[in-house]
Amino acid sequence: MPINLKKTVAATSTLAALTGLGLFAAQAQAPQRNVWSGVYTAAQAARGADAYAMHCAACHGSSLEGIDVAPALTGATFSSNWNNTSAADLHERIKLTMPIQAPNSLGGRMVADIEAYIFQANGMPAGDLDLPPNPALMRNVVITSQKPADDEGDCTC
Ligand code: HEC
Repeated sequence: MPINLKKTVAATSTLAALTGLGLFAAQAQAPQRNVWSGVYTAAQAARGADAYAMHCAACHGSSLEGIDVAPALTGATFSSNWNNTSAADLHERIKLTMPIQAPNSLGGRMVADIEAYIFQANGMPAGDLDLPPNPALMRNVVITSQKPADDEGDCTC
């Protein structure tokens, strides 16, 4: 059967337009933020440290340095594995696959607390609001390995 090129092109461009609109709407609702702009609180990271010690440290190390096949959750390993992902990606990875012997056993709030602790351990600063317990609310929070040069309020120019 010959491919109807005209139809395919029309369908593709409609899809592209819809996707474009979808992206635009999502961005309009939630402006993009970066983990270097203060996306968790110090109190949350402190709660996360306790939860990490209980549920994660046995495999990932008491300083998140990694042990054997359990990767480090700080430093170069974290930077290269998580650069240009989002706080939602990391949340889902932890929630759905960790602790490896009991995936999906921790609540969203505890996972967010642990995530805050991981951000703190990677040098990302605390801010005024907790990281939300639901990944849908942090798809706009980008993880980058380096603090962006043009971060709001940080311009030394
Ligand atoms: C019983 C050991 C064990 C426990 C407990 C455990 N992990 Fe893991 N974790 C692993 C192993 C092994 C891997 C690598 C294999 C994989 O990705 O499934 C891993 C991978 C990961 C990754 C992906 C790292 C990367 O850069 O790819 C993250 C994030 C993570 N764990 C976070 C956690 C957190 C947070 C906890 C506590 C809630 C936890 N893990 C508990 C063993 C464990």
